Amino acid sequence: VIDAVKAREVFDSRGNPTVEVDVVLTDGIRGRAEVPSGASTGANEAVELRDGGDRLQGKGVAKAVNNVNTEINDALHDESPFNQAKVDQIMIDLDGTPNKSRLGANAILGVSMAVCRAAAVETYQPLYRYLGGTDLELPQTFHNVINGGEHADNGIDIQEFLITAVERTSFRDGFEKITNTYHTLKTVVEKAGYTTGLGDEGGFAPDLNNSEEALQMLHDAIIAAGYVPGKEIAIAFDAAASYFYNTETKQYDFEGKHLSPVELGEYYVGLLDKFPEIVSVEDPYSEDDWENFATFTKEYGNRVQIITDDNVCTNPKLFAKAIRMGMANAFLIKLNQIGTVTETITAIRLARKNGYATMMSHRSGETGDTFLADFTVATKTAQLKSGAPARSERVEKYNQLLRIEEELGEEGTRLAHFPDSVDYD
Ligand code: PGA
Ligand code: ZN
Repeated sequence: VIDAVKAREVFDSRGNPTVEVDVVLTDGIRGRAEVPSGASTGANEAVELRDGGDRLQGKGVAKAVNNVNTEINDALHDESPFNQAKVDQIMIDLDGTPNKSRLGANAILGVSMAVCRAAAVETYQPLYRYLGGTDLELPQTFHNVINGGEHADNGIDIQEFLITAVERTSFRDGFEKITNTYHTLKTVVEKAGYTTGLGDEGGFAPDLNNSEEALQMLHDAIIAAGYVPGKEIAIAFDAAASYFYNTETKQYDFEGKHLSPVELGEYYVGLLDKFPEIVSVEDPYSEDDWENFATFTKEYGNRVQIITDDNVCTNPKLFAKAIRMGMANAFLIKLNQIGTVTETITAIRLARKNGYATMMSHRSGETGDTFLADFTVATKTAQLKSGAPARSERVEKYNQLLRIEEELGEEGTRLAHFPDSVDYD
């Protein structure tokens, strides 16, 4: 059973404070987890508790740490680490708010993940096996290789340009193709006269004139690396459109233009026509613009995957609303948007039951914790985005998938193929 829960303040990939939790069982077994943090957060995300005040630009998490070490520690003493649902419910009830704002979603999620890890260690199983059982498969990964929007200081308003290996014989084979394309892209960016500094998620952050130029560079890099665009390497983007939506004019202030929702849709379709290798589009409309998001889905949802992230925030209630409206055909899944392992699994199940695809996601502020890789495999989530194949906090998730593939052996040769959406028990 759980003996003690102990948190501390550590730092994430952007140098901001975050929560790390150790769960100690009575036999001395430990589980540890670190909590990530987003920059382009949805308004309906569970609340990340930050201290405010002068210390660490107001971003300290001493209060969240203290909540773990006092109230949560008391509440979980003597509970079984194997009853994840009960542990999570105890914390939800203890918090007492709909958005985890009292104790902090960062406090609660850290404990939730660390309990899960401790339980896996206690049963001598790797995390993916403890959580996922058998019949596991490796996800198709999406890699953010050009960073814009809130993740970089450049003129591009689309936040993420991602590449994914469509044709691959193993996870390793696909990842090698991605790294080849990434290194070639660096040369393409250099040759065009831009700097090759990196953004928050490890992608290049060149000061390009517009998003179309970014897509052209990806297209050129895929070919220069020796691959066929669309057949071997495909492209996806996350517009994160809430960040260029003007709530007063109800227009989109995009790369120097003021676009109506219809004009924005036409712009996207122009990109799809020009670059048929685009297979997935995330958050094309703002979280304040559900109607136009749904309309766009009705018109183009059979042509590309359309993911919603900021509107629904891994929240089963908001998933239900999106499903009712026919908004998007895929959901992005982020543990810290909802705040517990159990609720995240509930959200994934709801999505799949309703025929929605799911993509697991890191946050732009990450840690060295590889929980995400195991969690993706365990929940049979066919898609994962965890950044570029650069910067350790990103690459460690992919390295963990390489290890898992090796451990799974025969079983690991099963490769999920986007947009798959298998249910699981
Ligand atoms: P975030 O970005 O972690 O900064 O929210 C990821 C995303 O928008 O998908
Ligand atoms: Zn997003």
